[in-house]
Amino acid sequence: MPKAKNAVTGVPTRRRVLIAGAGLGLTVTACTRDAGPPEDARGPGFHGLRQAGVTTPRQATALLLAYDLDPALRGAAGARALKAVLGTWTHALAETLGSDGSRAARLTATLGIGPALPARLGLRAPAALRDLPAFTGDRLDPDRCGGDLLVQLCADTTDVTEAIAATLTRLAGEALYPRWRQDGFLPPSSDGTTTPRDLLGFEDGTANPTPEECERWVWSGNATCLVVRRVHLRLEDFARLPVHRQEEIIGRSRSTGGPPDAGRDGRSPAGGPEGSAPPRSHVRAVSPRLDSGARMLRRGYSYADGPTDQGLLFLAFMRDPALFARVQRRMAAQDELSGFAEARGSAVAYILPGARPGRPLGAELLD
Ligand code: HEM
Repeated sequence: MPKAKNAVTGVPTRRRVLIAGAGLGLTVTACTRDAGPPEDARGPGFHGLRQAGVTTPRQATALLLAYDLDPALRGAAGARALKAVLGTWTHALAETLGSDGSRAARLTATLGIGPALPARLGLRAPAALRDLPAFTGDRLDPDRCGGDLLVQLCADTTDVTEAIAATLTRLAGEALYPRWRQDGFLPPSSDGTTTPRDLLGFEDGTANPTPEECERWVWSGNATCLVVRRVHLRLEDFARLPVHRQEEIIGRSRSTGGPPDAGRDGRSPAGGPEGSAPPRSHVRAVSPRLDSGARMLRRGYSYADGPTDQGLLFLAFMRDPALFARVQRRMAAQDELSGFAEARGSAVAYILPGARPGRPLGAELLD
């Protein structure tokens, strides 16, 4: 992203951008595995043209962190503060993600900026980065929405994500205020060979774009956008339905994850990925056919915040969140699943191009 002129020249009353230590000597709680996984099963380090955690196969757990830049920091002073934070974080992440413990737990860290930040700092905003519109049926809690900086941490064990989260918050010093955080998990039974199931009991994440489709629809150069939705699910009401009704609502077979009328070979006589799924089913409402083939890469997790609030931590990467808005509107209008779902948190972020030696995160935006 080419640099845009800083429009405002506010001088901070005190320097909030001095963040000590640059993460030197960080330690991460050791992963519980005894032996390291084979090399090809290891997560990537931190440097690369693109950030990891987008096309990376899902790890067992996720931790989403949202921060706000100190509201007193605007214009050039704000841009300097952001640059200092991102520089320090890049250094710390490169060191931490290179460690054996992080690699064994396949730790990834994926950073993005929220829609309000570029205008406030006088930076040119990526065209696709806009707040999501309001959707019918949402019941959003402002304390679980938005954020100037979004961090997605994923790993197979929560000790490593918690450790790096604490480090990032500490290194942000007074420049950033924590805004919200959300844990997510995949069911423990997931063995990596079948698609993990969501809390409704269906395989979720099957019909994702191919690497070629990701080049076309997910990546924009080396950047992308992340849509986060904390979707509360009425699990007990859904579980009370007979399996054939559940399958009608999702539009997939609960046992195979394929089209509801698929035979043993996974193919449906009706053809196509939706087979004979009813018109008001989820897979019909969200079908890429209705978006001229446009795709999003869903990388969701389940969440459980006590017995009465459980659901889907919907995480999806796409070139332009306008796609999400179109799909979500169709869901609200025609998808029977919407009767069992209620978005309570929501955020969108521009996922920065990756960091490289000498090019910290955000360099394209801030240099
Ligand atoms: C309300 C909670 C939700 C649940 C429980 C859920 C569950 C599922 C399941 C079980 C599938 C079929 C398996 C698969 O292909 O992965 C699926 C597919 C899909 N869902 Fe959802 N979903 C939810 C919300 C959403 C939302 C909010 C969106 C976007 C606005 C969305 C977009 C999609 C897409 C694009 C597909 C793939 C369709 C295809 O390519 O054929 N889902 N979902």
